[in-house]
Amino acid sequence: MQGFAKRLRPCSRLQQGGHGNGGVGPRGARLPPHSRLRAGAAAAVSARAVWAQAFAFRASAVWSGARASPPRSSHSPLGTSTGAMAKTNGRIGVAIVGLGRAGHFHMTSIAGIPEQAQLKWVVDVDESRAKSVAAEKGCSWAGSLAPALADPDVQVVIIASTTDTHFPFIMQSLSADKSVLTEKPISHELKEVEEAVRLATSKNLPLYCGYQRRCDKNFRTLKKHVDDGSVGELKVIKCCSRDNPVPPMEYLRTSGGIFHDMLIHDFDMLNWLSGGQEPESVMSVGHAYNSEIEKMGDIDTVAVMLKYPSGLLAMVDTCRDATYGYDQRIEAFGGKGMLTAKNELTSTVELATSEGHLMPCAQWSFPQRYKEAYTTELNEFITMVRAGRSSEHHRLEQEALSRHPSIVRTTIAAELSWKLGRSVDLKDMDGLLADLDKSNKDADSETRSTCDSNPSLCIDEGKNMFGDTFRNYEDSCRQDEVARTYNTMHTKQTVDFGRQQRERWLKFEKGEFTVMEIIEMLDDLIDDSDPDVDLPNSIHDFQTAERIRAQWPEHDWFHLVGLLHDLGKVMALPKFAGDWMLEQWAVVGDTFPVGCAPAMDAIVFPESFKQNPDYDHPVYGTKHGMYQPGCGISSLMFSWGHDEYMYQMLKYNGCTIPEEGLNMIRLHSFYPWHDKRAYTHFEVAEDKETLRWVREFNKFDLYSKGDAVPDVQALKPYYESLLVKYGIGGKLRW
Ligand SMILES: NC(=O)c1ccc[n+]([C@@H]2O[C@H](COP(=O)([O-])OP(=O)(O)OC[C@H]3O[C@@H](n4cnc5c(N)ncnc54)[C@H](O)[C@@H]3O)[C@@H](O)[C@H]2O)c1
Ligand SMILES: [Fe+2]
Ligand SMILES: [Fe+2]
Repeated sequence: MQGFAKRLRPCSRLQQGGHGNGGVGPRGARLPPHSRLRAGAAAAVSARAVWAQAFAFRASAVWSGARASPPRSSHSPLGTSTGAMAKTNGRIGVAIVGLGRAGHFHMTSIAGIPEQAQLKWVVDVDESRAKSVAAEKGCSWAGSLAPALADPDVQVVIIASTTDTHFPFIMQSLSADKSVLTEKPISHELKEVEEAVRLATSKNLPLYCGYQRRCDKNFRTLKKHVDDGSVGELKVIKCCSRDNPVPPMEYLRTSGGIFHDMLIHDFDMLNWLSGGQEPESVMSVGHAYNSEIEKMGDIDTVAVMLKYPSGLLAMVDTCRDATYGYDQRIEAFGGKGMLTAKNELTSTVELATSEGHLMPCAQWSFPQRYKEAYTTELNEFITMVRAGRSSEHHRLEQEALSRHPSIVRTTIAAELSWKLGRSVDLKDMDGLLADLDKSNKDADSETRSTCDSNPSLCIDEGKNMFGDTFRNYEDSCRQDEVARTYNTMHTKQTVDFGRQQRERWLKFEKGEFTVMEIIEMLDDLIDDSDPDVDLPNSIHDFQTAERIRAQWPEHDWFHLVGLLHDLGKVMALPKFAGDWMLEQWAVVGDTFPVGCAPAMDAIVFPESFKQNPDYDHPVYGTKHGMYQPGCGISSLMFSWGHDEYMYQMLKYNGCTIPEEGLNMIRLHSFYPWHDKRAYTHFEVAEDKETLRWVREFNKFDLYSKGDAVPDVQALKPYYESLLVKYGIGGKLRW
């Protein structure tokens, strides 16, 4: 089958982004073996296993859910208490939102300073997790942040939930007058980072970001020597940070990509060591060795070069997958010498025999490597909050808040450089981002335009059958019916309703009919949600199919999609549905996902959602609702209607139309997504290709509504032959 990319003009360089093709070397290429130690590779591997056992330090796999062990004893209390603290006996009341890996290392740190801090609330959308952690820690729990923010005994909120929740939680917490320690990143959006810093400044509240490497004892010593001039003026900094093990794919889908998730730590380190300088220019190259990461449009291995105003050069090399263990190193080279922070291993003991020198293992992963740093970070943060807003510690931290936008600017520039495949000067970044945005928009509209390389294939995007422009939801001549249908739909389509309908219809027990029998029934149906047409739906089916056939003559499955796409509307016909008959608000019209907040500015007649019982629901009423960001458009539960029913019905009956075609049927009414580009936070990389096909289909669905009425009887034999070809000739179960 011809892929979309082959048909349309190739995407511009900007849009392709360069992932997977900007490799730093051939896939799978490795360094030459190290002469002595590598000579007996097999022996070394088994020796390593013995070594690991002997040192008994290889921690269990953190990504599989193992937790770090409790930290060493706490520091003594510092500073004075405030009035608010009196209620918690001078201790700072803490709420933690997000109870995954990061939430656990912060809880461990809090448990280590019982005289200074008390865990009051644990919050997670996964309520069963929140409940069981609360039982273990002896504190309150909630599925949303609001109750914790309303508690006057909470002074500090630690944000350790999924990356894209950080910014809203920061804003809510600061607005509720809480001090904030958030996991990185604050946001991927510079505007949001600036907004968060502005709010923290105006409220004079701490906003600390979890760049724990600043608290690592080795890097602190290195920094001290940089500052005391031991190596003179810095000329070059090299950072190496390689992760182990590869994080779970579901984590990576919401991580925001390697630049914002991993490299931001290195850019923070460079900001710190360079005395707060922002680079002038950045150049990144990268590659995806892991095919699952490549499918997400991300990369797993990156090299970045940066140049600073002082002349300083910096280099970072990062990889998601260092099989030998967690690896973090820094070298700072200056006019008078060089500082090196080596990778921290599980011990300092080296074994030398006639076989060679054998070193202990690297630390397994971040919880082991930074266990002490996480504790130090939290201790120092709590100490600062306890010292109060008039303390010197607090004042210095407020002054240093501007580092956050600078670090994110560097991160954005590095990512942009990788996408563009060229060096980026930070002063040009705004213009380049605007170009990139425009180029993406152009590529979007390119997929909408059929006047591609062949003008003879141009569709007449003229008027609907009433001589009006298409999709007029304001004052069409069918306005009353259309408004009534949508208002009821938006009030009544809930998660529960969707589940009931799926339970009923997806057993396919209604009866056995051929496709042509169903089309004949649709002679009796006029779609009440459609402002463009008041012809029977059966005619619309043939009009759509014939328009597609004229432009895509070779793609007969696509013609069939045109014919089939609306047949699910029979659920609104008494002749077919009998007792199960649904009113049109549950069958026709634009669809939207239930179980999360509606995209109000992308859906027609949005006001009516306010009467929907799910609108104020604690989970379904939120942006992500019952889904994980990046879960993929096909994982969403759509408002019940003809699209979903028809998609499932064709699957059930073994239809062999390619998945692109079936997706067109399933998603053709999801205008808020394919037209308005809402709900993109749920997308995965593959959804881009789906989007192109759905949009391609959409033109025919929409613009055929102005066409002449076709000779249905003459067309039937052709379409009967396609039904047989694609496995759905004869009686089907509906
Ligand atoms: N500084 C570090 O070394 C470090 C290490 C790991 C993770 N992190 C950061 O911590 C954050 C979490 O990472 P993780 O590895 O713990 O992920 P995780 O998947 O283990 O945990 C995330 C938790 O957040 C919860 N959650 C998701 N959306 C929520 C919402 N709207 N409200 C409340 N809870 C919600 C999830 O249910 C889950 O329990 C990420 O942003 C990551 O960048 C930092
Ligand atoms: Fe439709
Ligand atoms: Fe249609």
